[in-house]
Order: sequence, then C-alpha cells, then structure tokens
Amino acid sequence: MATMLETNNLTFYYPAEEGREATAAVKDVTLQIEKGSFVVVLGHNGSGKSTLAKHMNAVVLPSSGKVYVEGMDTCDEQLLLEIRRRVGMVFQNPDNQIVANVVEEDVAFAPENLGVDTDEIRRRVDAALEAVGMSEFARHAPHLLSGGQKQRIAIAGVIAMEPDCIVLDEATAMLDPAGRREVLSAVKRLNRERGITVVLITHHMNEAEDADRLLVMDHGQVAMDGTPRQVFARIAELKALGLTSPHTVELLSALNESGELLPLDAITVEECADAICRAFGGTVKE
Ligand SMILES: Nc1ncnc2c1ncn2[C@@H]1O[C@H](COP(=O)(O)OP(=O)(O)O)[C@@H](O)[C@H]1O
Ligand SMILES: [Mg+2]
Repeated sequence: MATMLETNNLTFYYPAEEGREATAAVKDVTLQIEKGSFVVVLGHNGSGKSTLAKHMNAVVLPSSGKVYVEGMDTCDEQLLLEIRRRVGMVFQNPDNQIVANVVEEDVAFAPENLGVDTDEIRRRVDAALEAVGMSEFARHAPHLLSGGQKQRIAIAGVIAMEPDCIVLDEATAMLDPAGRREVLSAVKRLNRERGITVVLITHHMNEAEDADRLLVMDHGQVAMDGTPRQVFARIAELKALGLTSPHTVELLSALNESGELLPLDAITVEECADAICRAFGGTVKE
C-alpha cells in the first residue's frame, strides 16, 4: 500500500513564552498513514492533535524530524504549493472558512487562486458540490446555511483542489448532531467512493466507529494506535487519558464487572445489542 503521509521522529516546539520553558507540542512521532485510509485521531485538549495536523500540509514545519506528503519533504519550499494542493484542511469554525457571498464562488476560490482555467473550474465546482450533496445550494448565500451545510461547503472548497487527502480538525465540534452526521457521511463517501485519504480529528467517539485506524494522542505522542475495536477495548487506559469508550463498549464493560463475559469489541449499537442478547439467551429481531 502506498503511503500518503509520513512523519519521522517529528518534534515540534512552539516558541517559549516569557517565564515559561518551551515544551514539545509534538514529541518524536513516527507515523505512516496509508493512501486511501480513514484515520481518526482522538486525544484530550492540548495533546498535540492540531499541531500534528498542521504539519500535514506544511502550515507548520518540524522543529526536528521530517514530514513527507506522498514522499515530498514539507521543508522543501519549492514543493509547498504542491503539498498544499494535495492535502486540504477543514477547521472547526465554519464561519471562518467562507470567503464569498455565493456558495459556488466560495467553492471556486481555491482553484481560481491556483490559476485553473474557467471551464475546468466550473467542472470542479459542480463535481465538488455534488460530492458533498450541496448542488442545489450553488447559488445560495453561505451565511444563511446551517453549520453542517457550511462545513460541507468548506469541504467542497477543498475537494475542488482535487486533493488526495483531507484533514479535518474538529470540523464537527461546533455542529449539532444532525450537522455532524451530514458532514461525517459526506467525508465517508469521499473516502469510500473516491479513495481520498481522510484524517479526522474529533472529540466524538462514535465518529471513530468505522475508521480503518484510530490514533490516540497524549502529551504530544501517539499513545494508542489500532483499529477502533482494538483501541476502544482498552477502556481503563482510555480513562487514564481522560477519554471514554463509546457507550456500547462502556455498557458491555459494566456488565462484565457484574460477572458477564461479553466481548468488548462490539462497538456499534447493533453489535452491542446482539452480544447482550446472545449472553442472556435471547434472539435479535432482524
Ligand atoms: N500557538 C501556540 N503557541 C504556544 N503554544 C501552543 C500554541 N498552540 C498550541 N500550543 C500548545 O501546544 C500543545 C498542543 O496543542 P494542540 O496541538 O493545539 O493540541 P490539541 O489540538 O490536541 O488540543 C498544548 O500544550 C498547547 O498549549
Ligand atoms: Mg486542536
């Protein structure tokens, strides 16, 4: 499998503030992210998630160590534009990411800046809006849209660059549950249908359920790395890092404490219900 992103002994220090010693926000992280994979990053506030994310499209450069985007060294200035085109970022606040007064103009903004010609921009904007299910809003005013719709427009703006990878830094954090579902399903489709690599940073455990891989950050380091099933089964370690497992796994674990022997890798509601029914001798209705 080809590698989309690679960090080699990546360490990053923000400049020391007066009276405070600089501490590493990212500490000696060596990591490879496969092309086409869906990776979720969890971790408490200040664990280094955003700093790591910013290295992924050369917004921030390593203090020491290396970051490669499809083999391109992010420290090579000549590669900067190419790296930024290949890895798109979506941030937390939808209102800070909208630059135009009409949706389709907003989506066209980045490719216009890249010097893409007009016909090609039209094609890309239409395709990008279609990809996030927002075609019917092309002529709308972005500020009248819901948070979830605005984030999908921000994602369309990134898609119009035809990137190979999208990094979403808590892009669902300010959304209501419906908005979160909209954005997540748009992102999952881009990953599944177009093979776009996704790195999704989130606080919502359930957003990690279908990920290929889950990374848990702590104090600037990767504390856990595995499939969601492997990681969420490590309930006690997650708790120690200030995180919880999904309610399903917590429930199974609580039942185990009272003497049951339930599997902790039943993370979806269906799997969890199934496991409980089996244990208690019932059957699950199809
Ligand atoms: N601009 C900054 N200047 C100084 N320190 C920062 C800055 N941004 C983040 N930090 C520090 O770096 C560490 C990691 O932060 P961050 O990458 O934002 O973590 P997360 O995204 O997981 O909340 C924290 O200790 C934070 O206080
Ligand atoms: Mg952050």
